[in-house]
Amino acid sequence: MTASITTQHEKIKSFDWEPSYFRRDALYPTKYKIPPKTKDPFRTLVREYVGMEEEKDDRQYGALEDALSRMNNSAQAEPRFMEIMKPVLALVDFGEYAAMKCTAMLVDTVENPELRQGYLAQMIDEVRHTNQEAYLMRYFAKHAPDPAGFNSGFQTRASDPIGRPGRAVFEAFMNDDPITNALNLQVVAETAYTNPLFVAVTEVAAANGDQATPSVFLSVQSDEARHMANGYSTLAAVLSEPENLPMLQEDFDTAFWRQHSFLDNFQGAVYDYFSKVRLKSYKEYWDQWIWDDWAGSYIERLEPFGLKVPRWIHDAKRHVEWGGHSAAMVSAALWPVHAWRSDYMTDEDFAYLEEKYPGWEQHFGPFWTAYREMGDPRKGHLALELFPTMPPICRTCQMPCVFPRPDINEVRLSIDAAGQRHAFCSEACQHIFRQAPHRHTGMTWWEVNDGIELARYIEDNGLLRADGRTLMGQPHVHTEERWLWTIDDIRRTGIVIQDPLRAMPADAFTDI
Ligand code: BEZ
Ligand code: FE
Ligand code: FE
Repeated sequence: MTASITTQHEKIKSFDWEPSYFRRDALYPTKYKIPPKTKDPFRTLVREYVGMEEEKDDRQYGALEDALSRMNNSAQAEPRFMEIMKPVLALVDFGEYAAMKCTAMLVDTVENPELRQGYLAQMIDEVRHTNQEAYLMRYFAKHAPDPAGFNSGFQTRASDPIGRPGRAVFEAFMNDDPITNALNLQVVAETAYTNPLFVAVTEVAAANGDQATPSVFLSVQSDEARHMANGYSTLAAVLSEPENLPMLQEDFDTAFWRQHSFLDNFQGAVYDYFSKVRLKSYKEYWDQWIWDDWAGSYIERLEPFGLKVPRWIHDAKRHVEWGGHSAAMVSAALWPVHAWRSDYMTDEDFAYLEEKYPGWEQHFGPFWTAYREMGDPRKGHLALELFPTMPPICRTCQMPCVFPRPDINEVRLSIDAAGQRHAFCSEACQHIFRQAPHRHTGMTWWEVNDGIELARYIEDNGLLRADGRTLMGQPHVHTEERWLWTIDDIRRTGIVIQDPLRAMPADAFTDI
């Protein structure tokens, strides 16, 4: 008779040893105290786990190689939706890589074999996800009707003004104390945000005719329930030591706001502006998954153990009303610097957005009407010219300071002892900066590119298509020659990138 799985687990973990050649706290020390024994979050032995995942991988790669390639599926997908998969895949794949590093660090640091077993399996999952999504990027570079951007997304995500905050938020999975990283990854990103990220992308992709993305994203999401279990077990272990609580709350509050500040605004733009066939508004997804399920059910149940819902959750709820629209507008105004095309809104889109977000037309309608008219390169004007000055970029989250909406933005301008100017998009981002200024020394996109001619920026950042003159980004998804913007059209505008903070009067800034 074989021993029960519980007995097998216990037996295997009794083989755990303390290596003399390696000190657990040497590489990635943690300030948290972790009890040496807790519950096993995975309850799967490595051998069973590997067999199960191999079968899933075979199914997914088989589908992509075989049926989906032969059916030429990508050609039937809505072009507008395919465009957003360019930054989505480039950024989420970076998140997978960071998730892999996070869990590898946890394996090194946490002296608890139950938790380590879960982290080990998750680390293998995240290696798989990194490869799966890179494979999908390659698949689209081969099969999508417009491959430009799929072929270079892993490069352009580093310089793109939307890519930079995306990278910054996923770097929070791997650039701090291993347990703080786990809060960002497992407790916030995976438990709160993989539903809107992976589940919603899957259903929206399928509704928009793209069958390749669901085959990968469903496979990925089927692992996330176990990753959330790792997060829960990590949190439970940390909460069981009362002295952890004050720093846990601060790290948790920060993790939530950092993940919110990029993900909610980016995802709002994805679902509300890049779907041709829409299923739900982003606000509806948020209310269900973040507010009701995560904050309302998961986190509130931890309150008896001392953990409170994140400090800025009500600010996030308020910002979600308009944040995606504000981000989509700024991103569209910057269309020439993206490696994807930013479609204009049609009359049907106007009606949908006004219905889901009453008041939308008053606040955003004039921009999108002008944007549509400016799509024709013969008119020679860029949507950037609609703004007297572009918004500054937040030092902490690297997003434009336009939240919740440009006319009621909550920007804070500060100057530090060294005379450096900073903008913060919110009270939360300013607080996070003040807690650890040395962690937020990165330059903003404006600072990096201040004074550079837009045409030169496009050439230098690899944003031209194979013909050497047509832009990768376009303000529409038309393919006829006469609609396509070239580098000569951009050069004629004479636009130079300017850091808005530099032009502001000194008395607009207060001491940090
Ligand atoms: C994950 O692998 O769990 C993950 C990746 C990107 C964003 C969020 C979560
Ligand atoms: Fe993953
Ligand atoms: Fe994960």
